[in-house]
Amino acid sequence: MATTALYAGMGLTTTKAPYIEQAVSNGEMYIEQPYELYSTDNHATWQRLYARMQENWGRYANQRFLDGLETLCFEPTHVPRLEDVNRFMAPRTGFRAKAVSGFVPAFDFFDCLSRREFPTTITIRDGQSLDYLPEPDIFHDIAGHVPMHTDPAFAETLVRFGACAHLAADMVRDMSDREERRRRLSSIQNALQRFFWFTVEFGLMRDASGQRVTVYGSGLLSSFGEIVHSVESPTVQRYPLQLEWVINQHFEIDHYQPLLFIVDSFDQLYEQVATLEAWMKAGKLDHVTPGWRDMSQADVESFLEASLRPR
Ligand SMILES: [Fe+2]
Repeated sequence: MATTALYAGMGLTTTKAPYIEQAVSNGEMYIEQPYELYSTDNHATWQRLYARMQENWGRYANQRFLDGLETLCFEPTHVPRLEDVNRFMAPRTGFRAKAVSGFVPAFDFFDCLSRREFPTTITIRDGQSLDYLPEPDIFHDIAGHVPMHTDPAFAETLVRFGACAHLAADMVRDMSDREERRRRLSSIQNALQRFFWFTVEFGLMRDASGQRVTVYGSGLLSSFGEIVHSVESPTVQRYPLQLEWVINQHFEIDHYQPLLFIVDSFDQLYEQVATLEAWMKAGKLDHVTPGWRDMSQADVESFLEASLRPR
């Protein structure tokens, strides 16, 4: 990576950051967080996003998330430094945020989780459009995901889930039919991605009293509007998490989610990952329902490549 002085004053705004464009064109997926490049506007955007979520977090977020926020000691007025985040997080669960330049193929993403690394976008959305964001940014990744990673039960769930990607690659490694290998990996990966979506990204939890639902999914925790909608709207279908449904349910990313799944505890979520793993071994993920949002070629290729490496 060229010296950051070249990019001084250009900011780290999503889709408008020359530093990131250069990293991508150099093929660099894992990068540093060049903190000095954040502009005054970037910090102001973080401050606005962070301030306006406070009330909604207090009202709707899962207690483990709120505990995580306390542990991480974010500065409300500045984009967090990943090294500070890691200083507070690593002693709790071993998880670390790892800066990336953008898209991380699915296998690599899951592999990072299995090693307690969380690929983290370092750009921040444009302050002109706080709400609509087609891609992740540092507010989604750090304020939405990372507080949950301070919880030991949730962290163990992520690690076990990430390891499922290795299991998938191992299972097809000896297959001689390349097309069948690709088809099977696509199906398994579809199942894994759907599980991630409906739990880690958009999960809800019922509390012990059974009366109240809280939010632990990062897509909801980083959305000012959807966190309210997910719990309050009568139009949202909310059902107890059923694994056979989740792995066969396709999803759309460009509007509020009409269907959400509820777990009772993070221990239950961990058990669901164990079941997912058992189902994978038994071949039950080899033919999940295709959806319009099937895997990108880069995602499928990442799994194929992994399955071609020696054990
Ligand atoms: Fe996410």
